[in-house]
Amino acid sequence: MDHADLTTWLEIDLSVIRKNIRLLQEIAGVPVMAVVKANAYGHGLIEASRAAVQAGVQWLGVARIDEALELHRAGIRAHPIVLGYTPPERAGEAAQAGVRLAVYDSQVAQAYAAQAKAVGKPLYVHAKFDTGMGRLGASPEEGVEWMRWLHTLEGLQVEGAFTHLAEADDPQKPTTHWQLDRFDKLLSGLESAGLRPAWVHAANSAGALYFPRARYNLVRTGIAIYGLNPSAHAPLPEGFRPALTWKTRLTSVKIFPPNHGISYNYRYRTKSEERIGVCAVGYADGFRRQMGNMVLVRGRRVPVVGSVCMDQCMVNLDQVPEAQMGDEVVLIGQQGNDEITAEERAHEWGTIHYEVVCGLANRLPRIYVE
Ligand SMILES: Cc1ncc(COP(=O)(O)O)c(C=O)c1O
Repeated sequence: MDHADLTTWLEIDLSVIRKNIRLLQEIAGVPVMAVVKANAYGHGLIEASRAAVQAGVQWLGVARIDEALELHRAGIRAHPIVLGYTPPERAGEAAQAGVRLAVYDSQVAQAYAAQAKAVGKPLYVHAKFDTGMGRLGASPEEGVEWMRWLHTLEGLQVEGAFTHLAEADDPQKPTTHWQLDRFDKLLSGLESAGLRPAWVHAANSAGALYFPRARYNLVRTGIAIYGLNPSAHAPLPEGFRPALTWKTRLTSVKIFPPNHGISYNYRYRTKSEERIGVCAVGYADGFRRQMGNMVLVRGRRVPVVGSVCMDQCMVNLDQVPEAQMGDEVVLIGQQGNDEITAEERAHEWGTIHYEVVCGLANRLPRIYVE
């Protein structure tokens, strides 16, 4: 596709997101909550959520109340659930918009109930248990009594119980089974007490794919719906594809003499006469200021040279003599017969691909294709 009017942009294939979700639904055999927090892992909150709903999704997981309210305002017909902390001051807004909140603290739960009563609407909550993640959550061992108490709070509707897995992306580790054993013990206590809520969920993408027992009646999947492997130890099955491509353009091509400094502080000097291209992408777009980056030009890998600037970076084009100003450059995705994956980008930057896609700047235009 020729986006001659753009200098750096993301192409996101919504049909790929829908297909990935359908595959997950088939594999998991239970409904899928699409985790669309952090601007849908960089893919665009509203468009990715719409695609998810088209694929049959009825739950959308976010991290902040403002993300949930944005979904509500956009008229997206699925239940948004805030998986992290929501200040009690915002609970009234949540109740009014039908946004579900996670609850794990008694004082906060009481404050939520008061807010819901004040606006005259029930607030749907999902009780969060810390079975071993070491993050948010009530104690599963005290969970039955706590849930009994939670039910007494007027204004709250206890709709779900959930936990989060710490090491599902490394299926060989025993931790996941240990966490699920703790969770199952709680669930059977709740069952006996007649307190088991309608929705029970534990699995992220790796959990949903690699731990059938973690699926309960809802899975909370993020990375897999965007077509990215949960980890090297927990790859996606056949059929999943990445939905996102990150492109920029050559905005200048010049020949420099030997020993010419390139970019700030001359961290690179031409070794001989070199053809240097300028790309219209920089660290303000999410392209890290790190030496050793590679990009694709005309289907071939070329090195980024010199410091990445805020909005630009330079590449050595000696291996691609036919490259010209205006050519597309691929930072993540396929070009010709080669591909740079988000995982590879992450490896280059000493991080995980989740951080790479979540770090794609808001200023990048997102072009949706089908
Ligand atoms: C509570 C919770 N559930 C589900 C997910 C989705 O995880 P993944 O993207 O690995 O599927 C996340 C992501 O960080 C999360 O924090």
